[in-house]
Amino acid sequence: MSAVSIRDLKFRYHDDGPLILDISSFDVQTGEKVFLLGPSGSGKSTFLEVVSGVLPAKAGKLEVCGHDLTKKSAHERDVLRGSHIGYIFQSFNLVPYLSVQENIELPLLLNQERARRLKKDRVTEMKRLADHLEIGPYLTRPVSQLSVGQQQRVAACRALLGSPELILADEPTSALDQEVREKFIRLLFECCDETKAAVLFVSHDRTLIPLFDREFALPKRGGEGW
Ligand SMILES: Nc1ncnc2c1ncn2[C@@H]1O[C@H](COP(=O)(O)OP(=O)(O)OP(=O)(O)O)[C@@H](O)[C@H]1O
Ligand SMILES: [Mg+2]
Repeated sequence: MSAVSIRDLKFRYHDDGPLILDISSFDVQTGEKVFLLGPSGSGKSTFLEVVSGVLPAKAGKLEVCGHDLTKKSAHERDVLRGSHIGYIFQSFNLVPYLSVQENIELPLLLNQERARRLKKDRVTEMKRLADHLEIGPYLTRPVSQLSVGQQQRVAACRALLGSPELILADEPTSALDQEVREKFIRLLFECCDETKAAVLFVSHDRTLIPLFDREFALPKRGGEGW
């Protein structure tokens, strides 16, 4: 089964607004790691939000983990996202007054299917991921006391807990230096390989492309973007 399957997908923010996405064909296979690039304003973040069901796909075919998102309500898309997708945001979206552990566990509280997918008990699985991403010693600390690189790995643990089939990441490494970026991606991929999760990863840093199976470029849109 494909993690993502798209045919003739078009997206506009408003019915009379500019066409932001126009993608004739795009597939991500189970376990495949795809690097998504394109100039600023080309629609990379929009694309991730459409694939995750945050924004509605109104024209064309969009299947994510076997579910046709074009036929789902906003609530149904929210549930599917919680069950099947781990999202790493550029700004991490961590809750500053919660501990590292509480942040990592949030998706399980919000989505029962995700909790059911845990292969071991919640704490064991969380500790295993945290150790793998080298934040094991910080689990009880307020997340606001961590460095940017450590916070990023908390966001990755949160995305990975409960083994979603698809990991979406929107420039999660932009605040980090080259060596730390590469290490983060390697650790992330090791976790994804264990569960055969597919990865769709947005970054401006082309030097990261060799780490991925494939790249996919969104075209520059006429007259916009810089
Ligand atoms: N909520 C919105 N309403 C209307 N237009 C929007 C909205 N969000 C983004 N856009 C427009 O959609 C286009 C694509 O934006 P998007 O944020 O997806 O680009 P991007 O490729 O992620 O850029 P960057 O590399 O700078 O993050 C831009 O022209 C932007 O102005
Ligand atoms: Mg963006």
